Amino acid sequence: MTTLTPILTKTWDQADSFTLRGYENAGGYQAFRTALGMNPDDLIQAVKDSGLRGRGGAGFPTGLKWGFIPQGDGKPHYLVVNADESEPGTCKDIPLMMANPHVLIEGIIISSFAIRANHAFIYVRGEVLHVIRRLQQAVADAYEAGYLGKNILGTGFDLELVVHSGAGAYICGEETALLDSLEGFRGQPRLKPPFPAVAGLYGGPTVINNVESIASVPGIVANGADWFAAMGTEKSKGFGIFSLSGHVTRPGQYEAPLGITLRELLDMAGGIRNGHRLKFWTPGGSSTPLFTDEHLDVPLDFESVGAAGSMLGTRALQLFDETTCVVRAVLRWSEFYAHESCGKCTPCREGTYWYKQMLKRLEKGEGSEKDLDTLLDLSDNILGRSFCALGDGATSPVTSSIQYFRDEYIQHFEQGGCPFDRAASTAWA
Ligand code: NAI
Ligand code: SF4
Repeated sequence: MTTLTPILTKTWDQADSFTLRGYENAGGYQAFRTALGMNPDDLIQAVKDSGLRGRGGAGFPTGLKWGFIPQGDGKPHYLVVNADESEPGTCKDIPLMMANPHVLIEGIIISSFAIRANHAFIYVRGEVLHVIRRLQQAVADAYEAGYLGKNILGTGFDLELVVHSGAGAYICGEETALLDSLEGFRGQPRLKPPFPAVAGLYGGPTVINNVESIASVPGIVANGADWFAAMGTEKSKGFGIFSLSGHVTRPGQYEAPLGITLRELLDMAGGIRNGHRLKFWTPGGSSTPLFTDEHLDVPLDFESVGAAGSMLGTRALQLFDETTCVVRAVLRWSEFYAHESCGKCTPCREGTYWYKQMLKRLEKGEGSEKDLDTLLDLSDNILGRSFCALGDGATSPVTSSIQYFRDEYIQHFEQGGCPFDRAASTAWA
């Protein structure tokens, strides 16, 4: 039986967890003292050895990404923290930054030192004013303490850290659109390659990492790469925050080693709400193909979830019981993608619009089974043909819902309307 590993979440229930003093009393701001005495290359090697993979969804090895930054190139390097958490169901970085902004700042100092960056940015989504304020206060306190700015702790290392708020666009979480937005342009994805590690912010070598990835770094420095690598699975090492939401008795953040199953998480979270049973769920937000109750025992690591036909993504487990109409759920997600599509490329811009139009009709019971084939054909024309991951992600709920719940779509046509009593489900509350 896998148990929880409260590491990043350990102090969240303490009243002063977010203050500089609270963080220091809990042992914070020690790891960066060690790190600043190390050779930056050894730090990169330690993160490589830990096996840490990007916690923003894609799971790219963090140390490897850092190692791509050219050294001795004479150009300014940048660290950008992607705090634009907007994936439907994903709600781990925002509570992390509220409860413990200083672990992120300490991670930023260590990571910037490792990649030899003297400028770092936290790009935070614009809707979360309370988080922006908390980060700004924490950054001001860290400057005051001498942990940021010129000649940090007399080591000769300089680091300026800026909290920058977006304006509320999902696409600005895509790393190159984020860079455009940070530079003051309209946020739209850039062509890759070149990857940001080679040509990123202002054309300079840039590491972009998710909040949780960077917040994991102080623990790796303090406890060693082996400590981190001992948790999780062979290829998905360490721990992560799993966000349970929807029809679950105790929704919230559950920090556990990668490879834990939904069945185990549900045992800790009190199960599906009383008297109901699990119908479908997302392993990593709405951009990952749906799972059903057949997937309760799939280990939640990058490889196992992939082998079972989905993606680990952001570990945003949105759980839906049998009162939920899957067609309606997919319509809601498709409306989101149509609204958030940046419009740069035709498959996504037009395709997400047609998803929305078709699903609206299907949910009302208008149409026929032939429309399902059209939806799948449309999906074929979006997936792999879109400029960035947003278009691909939009296809996931559509294709997987038809794969597992074709009968439910057909029931809509046969009955000439939705067979579900919407009032019985809290999913749309
Ligand atoms: P990606 O796989 O293209 O890239 C992942 C990271 O690795 C990027 O930082 C990229 O620059 C780097 N990278 C990949 N190949 C590289 C190479 N050859 N050289 C240097 N660097 C390289 O994935 P992408 O498009 O950045 O992210 C997609 C993921 O984002 C999805 O899996 C989804 O789960 C997640 N996502 C998360 C959201 C959130 O709110 N946290 C929102 C929407 C999607
Ligand atoms: Fe924009 Fe969608 Fe194309 Fe991405 S896939 S560039 S969001 S239109």
